[in-house]
Amino acid sequence: MPPPLMVRFHGGEAGPWRVNSLRALAGDPLPAVARIAVQEGAASPRAGAIAWTLSGSTGNLRYTERAEADSLAARQQGLSRPQARRAALIPIRKSEPWWALAQDERRAILEAESRHIAIGMDYLPAIARRLHHSRELGEPFDFLTWFEYAPEHEAAFDEMLARLRAQREWDFVEREVEIRLVREAG
Ligand code: HEM
Repeated sequence: MPPPLMVRFHGGEAGPWRVNSLRALAGDPLPAVARIAVQEGAASPRAGAIAWTLSGSTGNLRYTERAEADSLAARQQGLSRPQARRAALIPIRKSEPWWALAQDERRAILEAESRHIAIGMDYLPAIARRLHHSRELGEPFDFLTWFEYAPEHEAAFDEMLARLRAQREWDFVEREVEIRLVREAG
């Protein structure tokens, strides 16, 4: 695993990602913004008015077993592929009953019951992803999930979202905002 990387998502008027849609599926929405800038590590923040910033850090795997990690590593592609001109930022907060569970109980819901990793794997390598943890930072969300894909894979991405959200794991999602983005040339 690479060392943890702190990532900040700035919603405002600057950045290469234009907001196509922003909607809350559960809980409070976020204020509407025109663009999102992604700031990695110590890089300087972008100029321009910022309405909100969400922060998270990459981290070690919590639930993924060895065979799954090997399959993911064999299939997944990295961020910033030139053809991946669509993205989604989906901040998620899970409920207190989820956090009251023990690690083995959460793994059982995530994978044995909900098949999160197996479902996600069906959409590799088209969808590239990065998971950021925010809960320990006192942020409003527990996770900031980020996905990149080519325009022709948008329908597959929609299908994956519908499959994941139909699973029991999503009974524990109390706040979820979906922000769809388009990367503009230049
Ligand atoms: C591209 C397909 C996807 C793959 C291959 C995938 C894979 C994974 C894996 C392996 C983990 C476990 C990480 C660990 O061991 O700690 C995970 C966690 C997570 N994924 Fe996905 N995922 C995908 C799509 C999604 C989507 C579309 C969402 C949101 C709508 C999502 C939300 C999350 C969240 C919130 C977690 C953290 C769960 C927790 O720790 O409670 N994933 N994903």
